[in-house]
Amino acid sequence: MTPLHLEDYRDLAQHQLDHKTWDFVEGGAGAERTLGANRRAFARVTLRPRVLVDVSACDTGTELLGARLATPVGVAPTAYHRLLHPDGELATARGAGTAGALYVVSVFASRTLEDIAAEAAGPLWLQLYWLRRREVLAALVDRAATAGYRAIVLTVDAPQLGRRHRDARNGFAIPAGISAVNLGPALMASAHRSAAGRSALAVHTAEAVDPSVTWADLAWLRERSTLPLVLKGILTAEDAVLAVQHGADAIVVSNHGGRQLDGAAAGLDALAEVVDAVGAAACPVLFDGGVRSGTDAFAALALGARAVLLGRPVLWGLAVDGAAGVAGVLGLATEELAHTMALTGRPALSAVDRSAVTLGTAL
Ligand code: FNR
Repeated sequence: MTPLHLEDYRDLAQHQLDHKTWDFVEGGAGAERTLGANRRAFARVTLRPRVLVDVSACDTGTELLGARLATPVGVAPTAYHRLLHPDGELATARGAGTAGALYVVSVFASRTLEDIAAEAAGPLWLQLYWLRRREVLAALVDRAATAGYRAIVLTVDAPQLGRRHRDARNGFAIPAGISAVNLGPALMASAHRSAAGRSALAVHTAEAVDPSVTWADLAWLRERSTLPLVLKGILTAEDAVLAVQHGADAIVVSNHGGRQLDGAAAGLDALAEVVDAVGAAACPVLFDGGVRSGTDAFAALALGARAVLLGRPVLWGLAVDGAAGVAGVLGLATEELAHTMALTGRPALSAVDRSAVTLGTAL
């Protein structure tokens, strides 16, 4: 089957993965209400097409924190890509490069930052959790700069891991032979220890991540590095304002794909509030959560996002066909975005603004 839309990759990937890995990828926290809400929110956005506009060339190119991108659709940070494909993050980097897309590498990558950078043709950002071991955090920031990463993304919505029932039921643990190699083996032991009724990742996060961190600590991170600092996991105007006050160079509106706080707002419902609070020109706002087509990407861009990130769809592509699958997912979403730009009469991303959407009318 040639995938015609992103859900085709989902079906293909599901056939290939064992059920524990599939649940780890697909699952959310709690009753998965927020996970479902992320998708439903897109059904409440309808498009306002303008006609008789020259759309013979639709340009999906954009610029973000000084980097040129062929597409505003990028790769969200997701952990342990070797669960999906033997090449892991090396394949993801190749696929993102083919698509001309941004790739945000997870601190729980299963390949080294340096090896990933060697495969990358496009910009890389490094995502971090605030580790209890500050010397490890500091070393990662330094390595990222040396290896040519262009920004640090601090994920701020996970002081504890969400209560992911699927992983707990499955006693999910990271198989021996796959690990977050950038952390070193000493920090990985608990992630490998399977126990009935418990997610090893929840135990691992509790051990590794410092839940006491506050806004005041950001100054330490800012001083460690000249790289731009991006905060991922903001859902309110109040925190968006604090982020800017504390020197964030960009924000990712995200509820972690429904994997953290069940009951949190759908990301799309929080997007306009955050954009309005920061003034998108001063501080670019990125978006992730539930984007499953170029039309979804268009909706988020119209509501003020400068770029959107794909989490699960990239993992589906990776499982199905390695680098080609990742490039396929990103390419398809970008093609659909260009098509939506043509049929809404908005041939440049600068014309994709709130006049392009109506909120509230469910399709
Ligand atoms: C994630 N996400 C995530 N976020 C992060 O900041 N660091 C990480 O290591 C991970 N790991 C991770 C693993 C898996 C399997 C998934 C599905 C997600 C969250 C991710 O960056 C993003 O916020 C969501 O995946 C976006 O939602 P969609 O596109 O998956 O609906």
